[in-house]
Amino acid sequence: MSEGAYVFITGRRDPELAAAVKEIGGNVSGVRGDASNLGDLDRLFVQIKREKGKLDIVFANAGTAAFASLGNITEEHFDSIFDINVKGLLFTVQKALPLMPDGASIILNASIVASKGSPQWSVYSATKAAVRSFARTWTTDLKDRRIRVNAVSPGFTDTPGLNDLLG
Ligand SMILES: NC(=O)c1ccc[n+]([C@@H]2O[C@H](COP(=O)([O-])OP(=O)(O)OC[C@H]3O[C@@H](n4cnc5c(N)ncnc54)[C@H](OP(=O)(O)O)[C@@H]3O)[C@@H](O)[C@H]2O)c1
Repeated sequence: MSEGAYVFITGRRDPELAAAVKEIGGNVSGVRGDASNLGDLDRLFVQIKREKGKLDIVFANAGTAAFASLGNITEEHFDSIFDINVKGLLFTVQKALPLMPDGASIILNASIVASKGSPQWSVYSATKAAVRSFARTWTTDLKDRRIRVNAVSPGFTDTPGLNDLLG
């Protein structure tokens, strides 16, 4: 932002979004929405198009995690994690594409768990393996437009989400 970028940030909770906008301070809009809800994504990109006309960089960060060992995985556990981490990420990027100029950049937030085997993490880890796979295939889908697609794979990082998960 100090170099002149204008940023749109999203999330489902209004108070946290407002606090983040305040902390960033300027050149930022907070748009409430659920990344796994295609209608919310449509509204987000309509607003970006109306206000800025294009989008140079997408950072697909929204993600969630929960523990369940094989034998105890419920449909709700599976759907709740895949809906955000895989479906939400895919449609975030796909719906952003019409706003992205040639040479733009897409960054996907994966995780080290994509290539590790840890107990009770199978569903979350599989979503992050899917994210890393998207980076490889989308790079080829988008090469004619010179749009780069990279996945970053952080290790354990002290965040509110990780703290909630670990109690
Ligand atoms: N922390 C780690 O150790 C770690 C390691 C590797 C990768 N990651 C990845 O990093 C990303 C961020 O995780 P974090 O640790 O920062 O977790 P976090 O503290 O829970 O933050 C997650 C952020 O994503 C937003 N979000 C979650 N679901 C969303 C949805 N359906 N629609 C829109 N926004 C949504 C949350 O806002 P709302 O709840 O208000 O929607 C929040 O701002 C995730 O993809 C995670 O898998 C984290």
